[in-house]
Amino acid sequence: MTLKIAVLPGDGIGPEIVAEAVKVLNALRDDFGLQVETEEALIGGTAYDATGTPFPAETLKLSQQADAILLGAVGGPKWEPLDYSVRPERGLLGLRSELSLFANLRPAILYPQLAAASTLKPEVVSGLDILIVRELNGGIYFGQPRGRRVNAQGEREGYNTLVYSESEIRRIAHVAFEAALKRGKRLCSIDKANVLECTELWREVVIEVSKDYPEVALSHMYVDNASMQLVRNPKQFDVMLTDNMFGDILSDCAAMLTGSIGMLPSASLDKDGKGMYEPIHGSAPDIAGKGIANPIATILSVAMLLRYSFNDGANADRIEQAVVSALDAGYRTADIYSEATQKVSTAAMGDAIVSALRASR
Ligand code: IPM
Ligand code: MG
Repeated sequence: MTLKIAVLPGDGIGPEIVAEAVKVLNALRDDFGLQVETEEALIGGTAYDATGTPFPAETLKLSQQADAILLGAVGGPKWEPLDYSVRPERGLLGLRSELSLFANLRPAILYPQLAAASTLKPEVVSGLDILIVRELNGGIYFGQPRGRRVNAQGEREGYNTLVYSESEIRRIAHVAFEAALKRGKRLCSIDKANVLECTELWREVVIEVSKDYPEVALSHMYVDNASMQLVRNPKQFDVMLTDNMFGDILSDCAAMLTGSIGMLPSASLDKDGKGMYEPIHGSAPDIAGKGIANPIATILSVAMLLRYSFNDGANADRIEQAVVSALDAGYRTADIYSEATQKVSTAAMGDAIVSALRASR
C-alpha cells in the first residue's frame, strides 16, 4: 500500500523547511523502500494570494483523501490587515476543525548536543522529556459567540468565549492518560480552576477519567504556576494536559527549554489516528527566504507522521537517529549555533540529515 501524504508548505519559512522534510521522505522512498507519494496544495496567505481564500476547497479535499498531512507554517505581516475570516491562520484552524484533529501532541525533548543552546542552565534542562497534550478543536479558539462590536457606551469591544463540553474534555483526557501510560505514568492537567468555570469543569472531568487509569499519577496545576514551573524545574513534568489556548502558550515556553523552537515537531490526530504533522513554530517571516531556518522540527514531524499514522516505528527511529547524527557531527542552523559547531543553511542541514540517514543503511 502506498501512503499518500498531502504536503502543505504554507507561508514564510514553510516552503523552505518542508522542502527538507520532503528530501527525507524521498530518501526513505529511494533507499529504504518506503512506499510513499506526496502531493502539494496551498494553505494560508499563499493560498489567499492565489485563490482569495486561505483554505481552498481543493486543499481540504486533498487533505481528506490523503493518509496524512505534512504542513509547514502559515501567516505573516503581509496578511495581518485582512479580515479574520480570510487570515492565513483560518486555513490552519479550518483544517484542524474540518478533519476533527482534536489531539495535539507536542513533545519537548532536549538533545544533549544542544544543552548549551538553551537559555536555561544545562543542569535545569538536561534530560528534559516532556509531552504536551493540547486540545485542538475547542476552547476559546472556536467558542461562540465571538467577534467585535460597539457597546452601549459607543466603545469598541472584542469578545471570545471559552467553552468546553464534558465529552470534549473527556476525549482529550483519555489521549493524555494513554500517552502517560506509555511514558513516565505522570500526568499534570493544567487549568485556571480558581477563576474560570470552564476549567473548573475541565479539572472535574479529568479527575473522573483518571479513575480508568489507576497506574497514572494525576496532578493539577494552575496555568500561571505551570508557566513558572516550566522554567524553574521543567523536569518535574512528564505529560502535561492542556486546553487549546494554554497549550499554545505553554508549548512555546517548553520549546525554548530545548534550545530552539526550531526543534519541536507535533502531531494533530483525530479519533482514528489520522493526522496532520507540523513544526510547532510559526512562519518566521523575518527570516523567510534567507535559507537559515531550522528544518529539524519539520523533519522530526515526518518521524511522528510515520510513527503515528503509519505505525512505522522503524523508519521513524531512522529519521530521529539521523537528526542525532547530524547534531553529533556538529551541524547547526543559526538558531542552535554555539561555539565549536558548524553553522549551516536550511538546505545543508537537510542534506546532512539525509546523508546520515543513507549512511545508516
Ligand atoms: C500553533 C500556532 C497556531 C495556534 C496559530 C498559527 C494559529 O501558534 O500551532 O501553536 O495558535 O494554534
Ligand atoms: Mg503557537
